Amino acid sequence: MARKFFVGGNWKCNGTTEEVKKIVSTLNEGQVPPPDVVEVVVSPPFVFLPLVKNLLRPDFHVAAQNCWVKKGGAFTGEVSAEMLVNLGIPWVILGHSERRQILNETNEFVGEKVAYALSKGLKVIACVGETLEQRESGTTVEVVAAQTKAIAERVSNWADVVLAYEPVWAIGTGKVATPAQAQEVHFELRKWFHANISPEVAATIRIIYGGSVNGANSKELAVQPDVDGFLVGGASLKPEFIDIIKSAEVKKSA
Ligand code: PGA
Repeated sequence: MARKFFVGGNWKCNGTTEEVKKIVSTLNEGQVPPPDVVEVVVSPPFVFLPLVKNLLRPDFHVAAQNCWVKKGGAFTGEVSAEMLVNLGIPWVILGHSERRQILNETNEFVGEKVAYALSKGLKVIACVGETLEQRESGTTVEVVAAQTKAIAERVSNWADVVLAYEPVWAIGTGKVATPAQAQEVHFELRKWFHANISPEVAATIRIIYGGSVNGANSKELAVQPDVDGFLVGGASLKPEFIDIIKSAEVKKSA
């Protein structure tokens, strides 16, 4: 059962209108494998979502970088899942480590966000990952399993979820996980789904890797059997994002 390769571009809190238009025109001109081989989703800041959605080629899709945990209302500064649905935004990234760490989002809060977003019809890129300290103390698998469990306790249908394994020590550091390190955690996560959810979900859920992915290292990561794509930060703002998307071809022939 083939899992379609997935490449997400997380633009984080970057860009001006002019810069965003430039990135989109680079993407629109890029020669990439067809949509039956790779699914491409880019995630601009909220304020640029309508612009990007309007300008972006139709085979690429957009994601928000966050949304509120429940129905909108008196929550100053938040953006609700309903608003994203209203704008025709199909995807949302939830539980990114920058939000877990800087904004203190807990495993439970992230789990609630994922469940609410799915209930409104959004598709979710849910992020998990350990800190360097946790890796060095040997608790990586425990940490990502606990983060996944907090989602699993609130979610019953995994069809619209992509799980992004993003070791915190690899994000924005240029210190990419080795293919073996990535594969090991992806394998353990799939094993966790097999034991705790179902063999079917374990076989079908896409587990993507994030953390200093670039045009030079994406191919060797892509061929790992349990790596189903990438969530890319810094390099998603550059033309090399096209090369990362192309690594789906390597996967296809692997
Ligand atoms: P990076 O970010 O590619 O810049 O390391 C990845 C992410 O945070 O999703």
